[in-house]
Amino acid sequence: MAQILDGLKISGEIKLEIKTEVEKIIASGKRPPHLAAILVGENGASKAYVNSKVKDCAELGFKSSLIKFPETASETELLEKIGELNRNPEIDGFIVQLPLPKQIDQEKIIMAIDPKKDVDGFHPENFGKMALEMEAFLPATPFGILTLLERYHISTEGKHCVVIGRSRIVGKPMSILMSRKGFPGNSTVTLTHSHTEHLEKYTQDADIVITALGNPYFLKGEMIKTGAVVIDVGISRVADDSEKGYRLAGDVDFESCAEKASWITPVPGGVGPMTRAMLMKNTLLAYHSEKR
Ligand code: GUN
Repeated sequence: MAQILDGLKISGEIKLEIKTEVEKIIASGKRPPHLAAILVGENGASKAYVNSKVKDCAELGFKSSLIKFPETASETELLEKIGELNRNPEIDGFIVQLPLPKQIDQEKIIMAIDPKKDVDGFHPENFGKMALEMEAFLPATPFGILTLLERYHISTEGKHCVVIGRSRIVGKPMSILMSRKGFPGNSTVTLTHSHTEHLEKYTQDADIVITALGNPYFLKGEMIKTGAVVIDVGISRVADDSEKGYRLAGDVDFESCAEKASWITPVPGGVGPMTRAMLMKNTLLAYHSEKR
């Protein structure tokens, strides 16, 4: 039976470390770190994510600014706001919540963010630096997974790590990070995706499986090997008859995988809270870095 990689517990520790540091900053007479978030439109999940980021800021003593645009916002309006945030010395970092409405070119928006304020680590400069093992903002979810592996002393060296999904936010950076030098890293990585044939051939050989698919209960116990480490990044809303009308479901069929795995992340309470904590960590790093 697998042991739990408790993201709630570890994120709590990290948040406490950050909060303590912010208290020291404020006690020394300096201003607190300041994170801004741009939210475009009415996507329910996006609203919930952004609200939780604002809440995290309040909890840790950060200043936050939430900038809302209607679904019909133009690319020009958004680019102007990004320019303002780039120039504002009181803003340490900011994020543009994705996805964006279809009239807006996501790449153009991401490219407009000052890499020094890109606390999501989505700008190609940060992505490139990450891949080249230079100092960079790491995307919050992969950064959270690395931190979880690190704090639980999960061995990654020489292990076969299979990543499912090649998104710019999770799968692709995760595959690069697990193959980087050092710990956590030094893994042999297979990056699988929707065109991979016989996926189970890879997952059954994996020492570490990281699923970022968005397909509820996709990974079954029969698809993994005994003793595998299973990291579930999926968070889908599955309709049920609860008050909310849905529940959160991971990519992993928890029961059958927990029987065989050595370690496993739950959903909720696994990767999700780690992602939130790492965005705060990146903002604190941005606060301390030289911006001009
Ligand atoms: N949409 C889903 N995840 C994320 C994230 O980590 N950052 C941003 N900006 N948008 C997202």
